[in-house]
Formats: sequence, structure tokens, C-alpha cells
Amino acid sequence: MTKIAVNLPAVPARSYEITIGRGILAAAASELADAGWARRWAVVTDANVAGLHLGTVLAALRRAGVSAESFVVPAGEAHKTLPAAADLAARLLEGAFDRTCGILALGGGVVGDFAAFVASIFMRGIPVVQMPTTLLAQVDASVGGKTGVDVPQAKNVLGTFWQPHAVFSDLALLDTLPVREWTSGCAEIVKYGVIAEPPLLDGARGLRQREPAVVADLVARSCRIKAAIVAADERDAGRRRVLNFGHTIGHAIEAESGYTILHGEAVAMGMVCAARLSHRRGHLAAVACTAVERALAEVGLATVIPPFLRADDLLQRVARDKKKAGDAVAFVLVTALGEPVIASDVTEAEIRAVLQDVTA
Ligand SMILES: NC(=O)c1ccc[n+]([C@@H]2O[C@H](COP(=O)([O-])OP(=O)(O)OC[C@H]3O[C@@H](n4cnc5c(N)ncnc54)[C@H](O)[C@@H]3O)[C@@H](O)[C@H]2O)c1
Repeated sequence: MTKIAVNLPAVPARSYEITIGRGILAAAASELADAGWARRWAVVTDANVAGLHLGTVLAALRRAGVSAESFVVPAGEAHKTLPAAADLAARLLEGAFDRTCGILALGGGVVGDFAAFVASIFMRGIPVVQMPTTLLAQVDASVGGKTGVDVPQAKNVLGTFWQPHAVFSDLALLDTLPVREWTSGCAEIVKYGVIAEPPLLDGARGLRQREPAVVADLVARSCRIKAAIVAADERDAGRRRVLNFGHTIGHAIEAESGYTILHGEAVAMGMVCAARLSHRRGHLAAVACTAVERALAEVGLATVIPPFLRADDLLQRVARDKKKAGDAVAFVLVTALGEPVIASDVTEAEIRAVLQDVTA
């Protein structure tokens, strides 16, 4: 069992720990019982995770003497909405949950973002504990305190910063994760390798095979990297933006595909673009660029953009996002593996050239 501290210098009292290991449910439950953060817990989960893991989690909580009731919501990004949040709040009230209670988010990034969002506004804020069940959520979404729901026009538009009281990542919960979701989550681990710790890229093959020791090691190292970045810039005002490596073009690919391409799959293609752009600008050696693409391929991710996505359409989306943010969308490049830089002068012509280069 590994414990990683997320230190928040601005308000040390809000610092917390990420606990990672296989079969840690009993330990997590007794920590919850001892901590006394809440009198009762609402275990919020989606219908898929409920069918697979809710019974085991509830049993562990009850054995430890933790009072817990489950609230199951429909699975999928389409349900990460404000009406769904209001609906959950109403159900919590009907169940007599009040400000002495807490929410335990059991699920992937959708449940984590959604449940933490509700926790941040219910009775002006109650504790949330994250128990992530996807690889993406264990290495990324559960750490850092960003919560949110979508509106029809765009993702994550309504949200808060609400740090969890704890994160419990039980690696055994990942055993039921479908291959495609697993592979998509691997993209974020490769990202940490590119922006912070190049040796992570060596674990790509073991990650694809889900070798337990490799997975435990890479999840912990990824969380350590994210924890350090969040500690340096909790509110995303500067350094935290390096976590967006591959995401500028990745988001355009994800949205333009009508979300048929998963987040991590799109970010992988976006990382290939960002690495090649870095190379074209003379920052990144060809051998490093190839290492990024090899690691992505080794975990099973596509490294080319499918031809049904047209460069012009993707470019328009990137430009639209940029406009919405008042031209402040920065492009994360790398000058070497592990050395990210924020570039605000990337031109349309450069993006077009790299999109054409990376499209199959
Ligand atoms: N807050 C953050 O910092 C942050 C960072 C990255 C992503 N996100 C958010 O995360 C979301 C994506 O998260 P995700 O990829 O985990 O998607 P998800 O939560 O939709 O989970 C993917 C699918 O896997 C299922 N699932 C979850 N755990 C399972 C398990 N153990 N076994 C079998 N099936 C399981 C889910 O029901 C769902 O169908 C997006 O909404 C994104 O905005 C947030």
C-alpha cells in the first residue's frame, strides 16, 4: 500500500492523502471510520460500477462501522449535467442527508467530477472522498480537486475546486475495466512520462499487459507527479497547464468525432501532434519524438488521426476554443522529454501542417 500526500500550501488543512494498493477496501473503510469526517456517507456510483463493485464496497464500509447508503446514477458523460446534480441533491435531502454527511464517489472520472461537484455545493459544501474505478480516474481525475458538470454547448463549464478529504485507489477495482477504457487511461500515464518523468515510458508494454507490479508502480508515480503539480498551482493559474499536453488538439478530435473517440484515445493523437510540432520547431529531437509515438503504440493507442476527421474541421475547433478563452489557449510543447513549455505563438499554419502530417 502506497500513500502519497497532496500538500496544498495555501491551506495546509485541506491537504490530503492518496492511498494506492490492491485490495485496500477494508483499510479505506477503517480510515473513514476513524477519521470522523462525516456522520453518514452517500456512496454515489454509476449503474455499471454498481453492478460490479458496489456490494463489496458497502460491505467493507459496514464491517468497519461506517454508516453508508448508495445513490446510483446512470453511467456516461451524457448524465454529467446540472439537472442530474439537482436530482441527486433532492435524493440526498429525501434521505435526510445534511451538512454532517459526506459523499464517497465510487466510479470513473464522470462519477468523480459529478459527485464532487454536488458535494461542493450541497449545503454549501460537504466532504467528498474519491474511490476511483477507472485507470484514468486513478491517475488523473480523482486527484486535484477539479469538479464539474457539462452544459449542452461544452464540457465541464460549470464547476468548482473542491479538494477531496482522501483518495482511495484500489487497483483490484480495475480488473473489470474493459480493454478500450484501460487503453484510453494509459494515455495520461504516457503524458506524465513526456512532461515530467521520461522513464515512465519504459513501462508501456507492462501496462498493456496489466502486469500488477507495473500498474501499481505507474499509478503511484503518476499520482506523485500530479500531486506535485497541483501543490504548485492548485487553481490552474500557471504550472498546472502543462497537464494539458496533447489536450488542445485532443479535445478537438474528441468533440469532432462526436465523442466516438474516447478522451485518452484523442489525447494520444493530440500528443503525437504536440510532439511533432515541438520537433518541427527545433525543440525536440527526432529520437524523442519517436519514443513518444512508440510508447503510445506499445500501450495499444492509435498514433494517427483517422481520415474521417478533416484537418480543416479540427483546426476550426481549435480556433473556436482559443477564441472562447480570449486567445489565451496555450499550446503545451516539450523542449526535451520531461521539459514542457507553454507556447502562445503557435500559428494556424503550423497546426494545419502537423494535422496533415499525423492524419492516416
Ligand atoms: N477532474 C479532473 O481533474 C479530470 C481529469 C480528467 C478527466 N476528467 C473527467 O473524467 C471523465 C472521464 O472519466 P472516465 O474515462 O473514467 O469515464 P467514465 O467515468 O465514464 O468511465 C468509463 C466507463 O467505464 C465504466 N466503469 C467505471 N469503472 C469501471 C470498472 N471498474 N469496471 C468496468 N467498468 C467501469 C463506467 O461506467 C463508464 O461506462 C470526463 O468527464 C472528464 O471530464 C476529470
